[in-house]
Amino acid sequence: MALMGIEIIAITFLLHGMPSILKGTRVAGNVFDVCTTCHPNATCDKKTDGSGGFACNCVYGFVGNGRTHCEDKDECQIGANAICGDHTVCHNTHGSFYCTCLSGYAPTNNKAIFIPNDGTYCQDVDECQFQGICGEGGLCRNTDGDFECECQVGYRVQGGTLPFHPVREKAFCKAVDCGLPPSVQHAVQLSPLHTRYGSVISYGCQKGFLWREGDNSSVCAPEGKWRGPSLICEEVHCGEPPAFPHSSFVWDRNTRMGAEVRYECEGGFRHVGPASVAVCTAGGLWSRPSLQCEEIVCGKPPVVPNSQMLWNRHTSVGTNVFYECEEGYHKVGTGNISVCTENGLWSEVSFICKVVTCGDPPLLPHAGQVWNGSITVGSTVMYYCNGGFYYVTGTNISECSADGYWTKPTVTCEARCGHVPEIANAELVWDNESTAIHRCVDGYYSQSGINMSMCGADGRWQAATMQCREIRHGISHLEVFNERCLRWVSDGKKEDYKVVLVGRRDYQKSFVDTRRNAFNSTDFRPQVCLKLLPATNYTISITAVLASSSINITTNTTIQAAPVPEVMFRDVEGPVPTLWLHRSVHTLDPICLYEVFVLPVEGTLVFDCNSPRSPHFPKDSSCHGEYVAAQIQVRDVGKELNFTVGDEQHYGGFYNAPLENGKDYYIILRTVCQWGQNSKHSCVIWAKARGTSYRMRMSAVVAAGTIAVIGCVVLIGFFYTGYVKN
Ligand SMILES: *[C@@H]1O[C@H](CO)[C@@H](O)[C@H](O)[C@H]1NC(C)=O
Ligand SMILES: *[C@@H]1O[C@H](CO)[C@@H](O)[C@H](O)[C@H]1NC(C)=O
Ligand SMILES: *[C@@H]1O[C@H](CO)[C@@H](O)[C@H](O)[C@H]1NC(C)=O
Ligand SMILES: *[C@@H]1O[C@H](CO)[C@@H](O)[C@H](O)[C@H]1NC(C)=O
Ligand SMILES: *[C@@H]1O[C@H](CO)[C@@H](O)[C@H](O)[C@H]1NC(C)=O
Ligand SMILES: *[C@@H]1O[C@H](CO)[C@@H](O)[C@H](O)[C@H]1NC(C)=O
Ligand SMILES: *[C@@H]1O[C@H](CO)[C@@H](O)[C@H](O)[C@H]1NC(C)=O
Ligand SMILES: *[C@@H]1O[C@H](CO)[C@@H](O)[C@H](O)[C@H]1NC(C)=O
Ligand SMILES: *[C@@H]1O[C@H](CO)[C@@H](O)[C@H](O)[C@H]1NC(C)=O
Ligand SMILES: *[C@@H]1O[C@H](CO)[C@@H](O)[C@H](O)[C@H]1NC(C)=O
Ligand SMILES: *[C@@H]1O[C@H](CO)[C@@H](O)[C@H](O)[C@H]1NC(C)=O
Ligand SMILES: *[C@@H]1O[C@H](CO)[C@@H](O)[C@H](O)[C@H]1NC(C)=O
Repeated sequence: MALMGIEIIAITFLLHGMPSILKGTRVAGNVFDVCTTCHPNATCDKKTDGSGGFACNCVYGFVGNGRTHCEDKDECQIGANAICGDHTVCHNTHGSFYCTCLSGYAPTNNKAIFIPNDGTYCQDVDECQFQGICGEGGLCRNTDGDFECECQVGYRVQGGTLPFHPVREKAFCKAVDCGLPPSVQHAVQLSPLHTRYGSVISYGCQKGFLWREGDNSSVCAPEGKWRGPSLICEEVHCGEPPAFPHSSFVWDRNTRMGAEVRYECEGGFRHVGPASVAVCTAGGLWSRPSLQCEEIVCGKPPVVPNSQMLWNRHTSVGTNVFYECEEGYHKVGTGNISVCTENGLWSEVSFICKVVTCGDPPLLPHAGQVWNGSITVGSTVMYYCNGGFYYVTGTNISECSADGYWTKPTVTCEARCGHVPEIANAELVWDNESTAIHRCVDGYYSQSGINMSMCGADGRWQAATMQCREIRHGISHLEVFNERCLRWVSDGKKEDYKVVLVGRRDYQKSFVDTRRNAFNSTDFRPQVCLKLLPATNYTISITAVLASSSINITTNTTIQAAPVPEVMFRDVEGPVPTLWLHRSVHTLDPICLYEVFVLPVEGTLVFDCNSPRSPHFPKDSSCHGEYVAAQIQVRDVGKELNFTVGDEQHYGGFYNAPLENGKDYYIILRTVCQWGQNSKHSCVIWAKARGTSYRMRMSAVVAAGTIAVIGCVVLIGFFYTGYVKN
């Protein structure tokens, strides 16, 4: 079968190349001429018989008489193969024929048609010369009169089988695609991804993994599958790190890539060179540290004068050199050794060799020496016990030894102390030559002190310090009588008493009365009277020292007679009578006050010194004109006070009224002391005066120790302790 497209092309070709065999109809001349009678399809040819005439001969391909008919001869009748040759088609034409080639063949004259008489024949057309006739990836194979397609390597037929005809079949070649390349454990793909046939992908092992075996590339095979890789990646293991002489290493036994090993030189060696670390590299090998351990060498040991060295002549670290003093010398200092140290130096020697002498021999307590003063080695000293001491034990000889020291004498000399000392009221419980123990006899006791006597190093007893005291009964039944005396019950033996008293007052915070007293007594009922101050609370403590007994008591004192000041009339003749008071400073001041009473002499006079504090004279009394002229707190008065009667001032809320002209008055000074419910009063007649409008005339009144009877009534309870003076 011929290809349709090819057939069309072949036909076109034939038409273009058609020879003009049909042109050139011949026309006869105007003279009859046989030739003019020739059939259009005949030629007029000179006769061949030599007659010189012309004859009509049908042209080639026609048969007939040449004049009336020339009919087409069908040359193809005899068969195309016979007339046109192989692979031909015979085309009869009017009067002729032509040949064309069968599909898949072409005439050798390179024209569309041919007449075989020029040697033209049909030869096979090589369709494969037409590029791309089999499509992409197709492989054309020419056949006799036809062709067929195979697929190139890397292509596979689609829609048919091989071989195929691209026109007649829908088959075509398609490039092989291997798809995603295979993945390999611990490997990564290195080359860019092409998945066509023949593409090569190479793999490399991941970091930390190393190629062990197999092909590290994969090829896209014609059958559309990847071939390879057979690569096997193995984790990098560097194995045991390398060892270096005189070194050790610190290693966590990690052999993977990046693992580190730190090298250290062993003792006596030091590290030379920059690095001391090996690292497990990607290639599975330990990087070589530039480690070099160099032996530390100390050189010559130090020289100690007058000594010999004991030395193995090595200079490596740890080597010891011993020093030994030469004869006649002794070592001073502790170290007799020098060691070659890690820093390449010999350790210092704190050792010197000195000429041996022993110095002064040791002294022993209570021992004397027999010594000729020699301090060279081998000299000896003898010891003996001093007088009063006796040899007990120990060696009594010391020798100057080769090391410069006296051998230690151990003589002990003990004192002879004699009789055990006696302790008053004590007996001996136990004793040996050097120690005694004492104890108080019955009825005695010891509070403190040591109960042991010891024979001292000086040969004398160190007596016990205990003191035996008689066992006593303490104080009891302590009581206060007569407000200021104490009495108690004792055991009737001689006793040292100590009295301590402390007095305080609520009304006078600054007041404190502290006193101590001591006395001896042998009474069964001792008593003591104390000078206790009035209006005071006392705490009194009595201690019996020997009986070591103590008892306390508290007691109050009452207010006694109010203290009366010293009064004087100073200016009798003056225009204003002034009274002068000189008071004795007393501790009761805070609770005492002075009151000045003015009493007319005329009429009935009643004055009670113990009357209430602010006296109100009875209204219906026949005694008129009496009044309080002033009230003055004692604590406000200094050492002395000048008071002018009738100066019209106020004193403590009382008006000091002027004295009536021509009248006689008594001026009375009262002292009042009061604490709580307890109060005491004292009165003194300060003056007798006559009133004037402006001045007072004083007539002194003095009656020592008397009770004045003035006017109508006796002054009761009128204490007089001061005096009035003109
Ligand atoms: C002569 O031959 C041609 C073809 O070759 C033909 O077409 C023509 O009709 C012929 N003439 C006559 C008169 O027969
Ligand atoms: C592949 O393996 C070969 C040895 O077989 C090696 O020489 C080459 O470097 C490897 N290629 C890659 C990319 O690892
Ligand atoms: C070094 O001194 C020590 C005591 O300090 C002693 O035991 C040792 O024998 C001495 N060595 C030498 C060589 O003198
Ligand atoms: C002292 O006594 C020693 C023996 O202990 C003796 O060798 C030395 O010569 C004596 N020295 C003197 C100066 O007598
Ligand atoms: C030294 O002790 C011995 C006993 O060990 C004694 O015989 C000698 O008399 C003592 N020497 C002196 C000097 O006391
Ligand atoms: C006496 O006794 C004391 C204490 O027990 C003891 O230390 C001492 O050595 C003794 N003395 C004698 C000479 O026995
Ligand atoms: C001596 O005194 C001690 C305490 O200092 C005491 O233990 C001991 O009993 C006393 N001995 C006698 C015999 O009293
Ligand atoms: C003494 O003590 C009593 C009671 O504590 C108290 O009421 C009184 O005021 C005190 N007296 C003095 C003078 O302190
Ligand atoms: C007690 O009497 C003794 C003498 O027996 C004497 O030494 C001492 O001073 C007296 N003490 C007092 C406080 O009087
Ligand atoms: C007695 O009083 C004193 C001081 O006030 C105090 O130190 C002591 O303890 C008192 N003694 C007794 C037995 O109350
Ligand atoms: C002191 O005396 C008052 C009465 O003046 C009395 O009430 C009080 O208890 C006494 N205080 C002492 C401690 O005796
Ligand atoms: C009171 O008067 C006398 C004599 O005139 C004078 O010496 C004294 O200083 C006066 N006292 C006061 C406190 O004024």
